[in-house]
Amino acid sequence: MNGVKISAVGHYAPAAILTNEDLEKTLDTSDEWITTRTGMKRRHIAAPDQATSDLCIAAARDALQNGKIATADIDCFIVATSTPDYPFPATACIVAAQLGATGKPAFDMEIACSGFIYGLTMASGLIRAGIYSRVMLIGAESLSKIVDRTDRSTAILFGDGAGAVVLEASAENSFLSSELGADGRRPEMLCLLGGGSRRPFTAESLAAGEQYLRMEGREIFKFAVTKMIESTGIALRNAGLQKSDVNWLIPHQANRRIIDAAAKYLDMPDDKVIVNIEEYGNTSAASIPIALSEALHAGRIKAGDIIVFVGFGGGLSWGAVTWRWA
Ligand code: UT7
Repeated sequence: MNGVKISAVGHYAPAAILTNEDLEKTLDTSDEWITTRTGMKRRHIAAPDQATSDLCIAAARDALQNGKIATADIDCFIVATSTPDYPFPATACIVAAQLGATGKPAFDMEIACSGFIYGLTMASGLIRAGIYSRVMLIGAESLSKIVDRTDRSTAILFGDGAGAVVLEASAENSFLSSELGADGRRPEMLCLLGGGSRRPFTAESLAAGEQYLRMEGREIFKFAVTKMIESTGIALRNAGLQKSDVNWLIPHQANRRIIDAAAKYLDMPDDKVIVNIEEYGNTSAASIPIALSEALHAGRIKAGDIIVFVGFGGGLSWGAVTWRWA
């Protein structure tokens, strides 16, 4: 048995909602600009006392309940996030403990918006190598905590949430191929400049706003479309699949225009592309598992369907995974 399948999926989004109309009240922006340039209408925002681990735990519990799986049956916990509770320890350690799985291995993966794609590849590898039988992979973010609410170029984009999947060993194999990549020559294109070992926080760096996410939006846009197309093409080729074999494209939800441009090039009609950006904005590592969870709950994905998961983001980083739903 060296196959892997996803046996449970769940998600969680905080209750508070920030609408385009709310943003109009505090920024020089408009619902019309945000809608036409991004496709976004609302974002869910974590409460002041809610950290990323809290979102993870809610999504994990939803997945465990949906799959009727006991926490004790999970062998390893992975959290993909760029907004951990603390720089260290890993948020996954806190999540595992809170779920009652103290003692189990738990670690974070920090590869920005590509986190879920990288995590899916790593978790599948751990299972197919026979190291673990069940792995919980969670993509989760509290991006509202690192967004500069006065910067209209980023404040409109990001939201909070978490999506969780349980991967398990299986006779049939869902994992068909993975194509991952990174280019760290210009990390500042999309980054949190301060608080790390290169630029520890000082009164001056805080005054300069280095505690906030910054992004070269236009450059990232071009990179995103190119890499979505390239990595999807390579992943399909590696799996021996044609574009026409794909039932669902589940992309990172960064911008409706990025998704549409890539989908057009990949010959994916709208009804094959899972998009929920209107409701959540960009939730980075959480966006793909939340979209998967919603699509499953809506009964859209059926056994045997071929799915392409594709993401891109800070690093820069990118990746695509092809998956046959079990
Ligand atoms: O998940 C991580 C990866 N992130 C992404 O993939 C994001 C990629 N980038 C994007 O999605 C888009 O570049 C943005 C949505 C961030 C921006 O859209 P754009 O069409 O690339 O706009 P732009 O940056 O070229 O700005 C066009 C104009 C500028 O004004 P001028 O210079 O033409 O007068 C901006 O100042 O729009 C202005 N602008 C805004 N106007 C109203 C920028 N933000 C806003 C705003 N409201 N919120």
